[in-house]
Amino acid sequence: MIPNAKWIRPAQTTGDVCPVYSKQFSLFSSPNQSLSSVAHATLSVTAMGVYEASLNGKRIGDFVLAPGWTSYRHRLQVQTYDVTELLSSENELSIIVGKGWYRSPLAWPDEAHRQQKAQISAGLIALLTITYTDGNTQLLPTGADWSAYESNVRFSEIYDGETYDAAFDPSSAPIAIEEFDGPSDTLIAQQGEKITEQERIVPARIFTTPAGETVIDFGQEITGYVEVSLDAHAGDCVELSHAEVLDKHGNFYTENYRAAKAKFLYFCKEGFQTWHPKLTFFGFRYIRVDHFPGGADAVRPDIFTAVVVCSDLQRTGFLSSSNPLLNKLFDNIIWGQKGNFVDVPTDCPQRDERLGWTGDAQVFIRTACYNFDTEAFYRKWLSDLAADQYPDGHVDHVIPAILENQKSSAAWGDAACVCPWELYLAFGDANILRSQFNSMKKWVGYITSSTTTKNLWTGGEHYGDWLGLDAPSGSYKGSSDEDLIASAFYAHSTELVMKAGNVLGEDVSEYETLYKNIVAAFQETWPVYHTQTECILAAHFHLAKDCQAAADQLAKLVTDAGVQLKTGFVGTPYLLHVLSDYGYVSLAWSLLLRENYPSWLYPITKGATTIWEHWDGIMENGDFWTRDMNSYNHYAYGAVADWVYGNAAGIRPLDGYPAYEKISVSPLPDKRLGWLSCSYRSRHGLIRSDWKLQGDQWRYEIETPVDAVITIAGQKHEVAPGTWIFFSAVE
Ligand code: BGC
Repeated sequence: MIPNAKWIRPAQTTGDVCPVYSKQFSLFSSPNQSLSSVAHATLSVTAMGVYEASLNGKRIGDFVLAPGWTSYRHRLQVQTYDVTELLSSENELSIIVGKGWYRSPLAWPDEAHRQQKAQISAGLIALLTITYTDGNTQLLPTGADWSAYESNVRFSEIYDGETYDAAFDPSSAPIAIEEFDGPSDTLIAQQGEKITEQERIVPARIFTTPAGETVIDFGQEITGYVEVSLDAHAGDCVELSHAEVLDKHGNFYTENYRAAKAKFLYFCKEGFQTWHPKLTFFGFRYIRVDHFPGGADAVRPDIFTAVVVCSDLQRTGFLSSSNPLLNKLFDNIIWGQKGNFVDVPTDCPQRDERLGWTGDAQVFIRTACYNFDTEAFYRKWLSDLAADQYPDGHVDHVIPAILENQKSSAAWGDAACVCPWELYLAFGDANILRSQFNSMKKWVGYITSSTTTKNLWTGGEHYGDWLGLDAPSGSYKGSSDEDLIASAFYAHSTELVMKAGNVLGEDVSEYETLYKNIVAAFQETWPVYHTQTECILAAHFHLAKDCQAAADQLAKLVTDAGVQLKTGFVGTPYLLHVLSDYGYVSLAWSLLLRENYPSWLYPITKGATTIWEHWDGIMENGDFWTRDMNSYNHYAYGAVADWVYGNAAGIRPLDGYPAYEKISVSPLPDKRLGWLSCSYRSRHGLIRSDWKLQGDQWRYEIETPVDAVITIAGQKHEVAPGTWIFFSAVE
């Protein structure tokens, strides 16, 4: 992948200090070559950690945290940059390598894990290729002839943050390097989207908390880092801590970061300077200024800027309505996605996790695909899922699979089948099904071989209806029957294998038989349901003998509970779907528009700017739900947006026409909302569905770039591309 180049590393460990590798060279490898005779120059590079490269002091490319995060055991991405414009006659190429995901302790690290990570080298492999107009090339591969120094980055880890000493002089601390046999078969070309800086946010306010802390509020929870610009003396220190929320007294609160220290420590040089961490990231809305030259009085808003960092995705979906709280929810869902799409779909960006939890990913993927063009992003992650899948088909809880030897959980491992199918529906490329088909079949095969009851999935270890509000006291798991949940997903994944196989022209008769058997066994085993989530799964996956009856029971359970949801990660994504699909549109809207706890809008009444992990992350009395499991940037419940796009606005690909090649638009208006406006930029063009209350009528305006079936008040209209206006009476 990088021919001629050798892996290099410090001959002796540099501990927490990040090495910077360097190569000085002049262009004139032969008498005829000069700067004007350079046709082009490229740098191919990757590292065991995260790197940033510069040529002659100018940064190469805009990829933050390159080479990104993959299942490093199997796949390590190589980036190639065009560096032609950065060349001079005399050159210095520098590449700093931080620990990144490769070498930082991850996932509730204990001391043994820390030690093991510390043994891994800060390896680098790179090749600079200069092609001259006469066809000659000059190659500068990494090897023993490169130099290395201790860099100004004295510490950098994913969870704990970064320490930068601007006054330190790297040339005073050369490091001996050596070549070594690093990864070779696992190197692959960049597959996903690059991670970049996306926007910059200035402080909304600076204030002193009751505990006397100087705190800056950026007004929005983001993922990224804070940049400081200040005049200072060499050795002055800026120390910043990060937080998502304040406690009920208005004090800075970091307990929910658990073991993640999330600190930025910056030692100044003389004069004016601007810096931000480069080899890590933080999830935060607030920073506490723990140390600052000149003390708290010198802390001014123009010194601090929050920089948003995430995968570079094209926004495709937009929602707005007459309800400001609902609009804030839409906004928070977008921010939740930005904050958790840093190369891997993660659970949260702040505490000592930030992992590619499969359950969260499959729950949110449909919404994610409406909001942004996520095709390349998920394709990369699914390649990692397939690479990490065990020979017996089981899928770890997180991908990249860094937890190891975990049992697979229903609704988490099912990401193996759900995600490729959703990607195919959204973007229409059957290649995603082709490349994941084996992985999909292996997942279903794993369930078949590990269950204790034929045609059901019983006896596993599952997360159940994670964080369901009907959880018995002291448990994170809702009270829905775990075997029922697991068997429902067994059926769902089997059905998706059948569908994918049909698209690919594969023989799926074995799966058709299995599917029929699972449905029959499900109906026999669970003739009645006890919880909202059980009703939801039985109806949504068409497993109940009488799906309408299951939906009726759901509506009754919700109504009897005072129009309250009790669902967790598993039931919530389909709750509104089941209600509106089976005649309870108004009840679905009641749940979505509800402002009291528990609801989607309740966190907004408590100031949320992203989606919370818990319905009551901050309780009505201002207390926190818990200290150890309380993220304020967990996108999972943001999955409700797919109901708004696909049901409330009603935009969906017609069956058999993935990527919106033909569409169905079936809006579901509600009087409590004066208007809803939705647009989605599909692969086939912009689709728009707006409705608004006009006197005693609903006015619908629908724009379609493709043939569409529009259903208004139960009446179907087959229309050609164009803009269509309909009216219906308000009931
Ligand atoms: C994560 C979740 C995840 C769960 C597994 C948590 O720690 O943050 O989002 O899905 O564990 O149940």
